[in-house]
Amino acid sequence: MKKIQIINGPNLNLLGRREPSVYGNISFEGYLDELRAKYPQCEISCFQSNVEGELINKIHETGFAYTGIILNAGAYTHTSVALHDAIKAVEAPVIEVHISNVHAREAFRHISLISAACKGVILGFGLDSYRLAVEAILASENNSLRIDNLEH
Ligand code: DQA
Repeated sequence: MKKIQIINGPNLNLLGRREPSVYGNISFEGYLDELRAKYPQCEISCFQSNVEGELINKIHETGFAYTGIILNAGAYTHTSVALHDAIKAVEAPVIEVHISNVHAREAFRHISLISAACKGVILGFGLDSYRLAVEAILASENNSLRIDNLEH
């Protein structure tokens, strides 16, 4: 059983209610049910916190035991050196995801302090960004075109 940890950062507990024109009107819980049903071969865990240190603790806790981590760090993406360091410290590949296309938004969202520490970045596809990240983790496990083989 492949173990995948989704980690959602600040304000993502309000998905479905928060700025629906940017983030959609579906709650993450509802989406997660669909995602789990689509990937019965994976155990998909989900953690959300508005507290930076709790996100770091979860990366430490799962980063040596899980197949991969899908991280939407929310606004901490643009500010957190500590998250960058936590991602670098663990073994599991971390995929950075964003629901919105941050590059089509305010300039302060164009900088990510975590991208360079992540295996790759998926953004702008709405909640489907998470499914694409699951696909990326599974592809890196199964295919000859392993993303693990790419040097960053
Ligand atoms: C976000 C983009 C961030 O800039 C923002 O602070 C969020 C959500 C996204 O998923 O599009 O909270 O990470």
